[in-house]
Amino acid sequence: MTSALFSPYKINGLELANRIVVAPMCQYSANDGVAGDWHWTHLGMLANSGASLVIIEMTDVERRGRITHGCLGIYSDACEAALARIIAHCKRIGTAKFGIQIAHAGRKASSSRPWEGGQGLKPGEDPWETIGPSAIPFGPSWPAPRQMTEEDIAHVRAAFVEGTERALRIGFDAIELHMAHGYLIHAFTSPISNTRNDGYGGDLAGRMRFGLEILRELRAVMPKGMPLGARISATDWLDGGLTPDDSVIWVNTMKESGLDYVCVSSGGVHSAARNPLDAGYNVPLAEKIKRETGVATRAVGLITTPQQAETIIADGKADMVALARAMLDHPHWAWLAARELGAEVERCPQYLRVAPKMWPGATVRQ
Ligand SMILES: Cc1cc2nc3c(=O)[nH]c(=O)nc-3n(C[C@H](O)[C@H](O)[C@H](O)COP(=O)(O)O)c2cc1C
Repeated sequence: MTSALFSPYKINGLELANRIVVAPMCQYSANDGVAGDWHWTHLGMLANSGASLVIIEMTDVERRGRITHGCLGIYSDACEAALARIIAHCKRIGTAKFGIQIAHAGRKASSSRPWEGGQGLKPGEDPWETIGPSAIPFGPSWPAPRQMTEEDIAHVRAAFVEGTERALRIGFDAIELHMAHGYLIHAFTSPISNTRNDGYGGDLAGRMRFGLEILRELRAVMPKGMPLGARISATDWLDGGLTPDDSVIWVNTMKESGLDYVCVSSGGVHSAARNPLDAGYNVPLAEKIKRETGVATRAVGLITTPQQAETIIADGKADMVALARAMLDHPHWAWLAARELGAEVERCPQYLRVAPKMWPGATVRQ
């Protein structure tokens, strides 16, 4: 049997050994944006998950763009040096390629870590001023952000470019723009959080402008063959919010500006929005976007079993799958999937003795 999940894939100039991607996952464990021992261990572990690509957590382009005091940043020399050391380590010891999700939390910044409640920081918890397209809070118990001026917009755009230049120096293989989950770029795109009446608001074209400008500026500084992707929320799951049809327009417009792939997620623009909880809940959205845009598409969200992932790829519903929580549960998830699907996956030599050909029944020297 030939596995579709374990077939190679190429995004722009990047060759991937299979269709399995580790989804970006915030660790809330940095110190003023600087990665430390936790990241060394966590990313080192995922480097040998068997996934062809690991996208590291939302990494913020300015200090006030962090969700929490513990979020990773890419806004200082210290941030760059620490990440460079860890990514070089991961590439030395592991099999995966590495991408970075660059981001700005916008009005969802200045929060406590999820395990501390995940709410807007209170006085005494060192809160900071948040910014957004409009002065509309994320939810009833959240502070209203300051509406960004054109100067703020230019400043944040420049921070995205500077962060990308740092990521290129570090040696990442792909850049992924975080345009989902209610963070700054999504907040501009969604009518729920953007009620501006200047050139950065109004109709969908106006609301897409901020993200498009960033995408184009990143494309201009990145090597031609390096993948530039985006994670989007393909629907806001709210009346009056972004719809899957809007997202098709959004992805088609980004495609014209050099987008190489899209990761289809959903929700997160308002505290009242609720995502469905059924297996593979974003897959129909990914399928629609793949069909109607032709852009390389990654599906994410409650994809947990090898057979489920195999079917998504084999049926052409997406080109790649991303797994988040399942990878934390089973950090060698792709090794188990290869075993179940009768496929092969590259492993580090130290652990080769668990490769299928060495299992009981095969002749193994003890
Ligand atoms: C601990 C944790 C941290 C996350 N951090 C991010 C993040 O930094 N960026 C992002 O786009 N999504 C983030 N997510 C969402 C995941 O990437 C993924 O889209 C979501 O968990 C659904 O996939 P799953 O069902 O495979 O977990 C996070 C999820 C978890 C569980």
